[in-house]
Amino acid sequence: MIRPGETTKIRVKVNGIWYEKEVEPRLLLVHFLRDELGLTGTKIGCDTSTCGACTILLNGKAIKSCTYLAVQADGAEITTIEGLAKDSKLHPIQEAFKDNFALQCGFCTAGMIMQTYYLLKENPSPSEEEIREGLHGNICRCTGYQNIIKAVKDASMRMRQ
Ligand code: FES
Ligand code: FES
Repeated sequence: MIRPGETTKIRVKVNGIWYEKEVEPRLLLVHFLRDELGLTGTKIGCDTSTCGACTILLNGKAIKSCTYLAVQADGAEITTIEGLAKDSKLHPIQEAFKDNFALQCGFCTAGMIMQTYYLLKENPSPSEEEIREGLHGNICRCTGYQNIIKAVKDASMRMRQ
């Protein structure tokens, strides 16, 4: 039985680097990433798996890290928004969001981009309907949806070139 305050060791590979940490079993993955590893690009919007702000990739799949325990991620490979740019060069999805004015306050952006990354990996040339379907779990409170759709279309073209 685990008592309050007891910890357990986990190993995770985040953005290409292995980390070994003692964590409380109740610690959520989003808090582990933000508070233990300092990767604050992943945001917390709702804590109830509704808004998608906390979306990351876990073993290649997009998940909402606010409803996933850090201990469940033991042994996993994780990519956060900090892992997309390479050699100080933004990822094509990041460039497309920037160039299509798909960022307003930017709070939802990291989650949108990680979900887009997964969507385009699964379907490199999605239709508008497929983009809307793919991003339906991500909420932008400042309603920037039209430009976000444009950005995803643009990113899909850039990544196929
Ligand atoms: S913070 Fe995770 S879905 Fe909103
Ligand atoms: S850009 Fe403001 S919530 Fe999405």
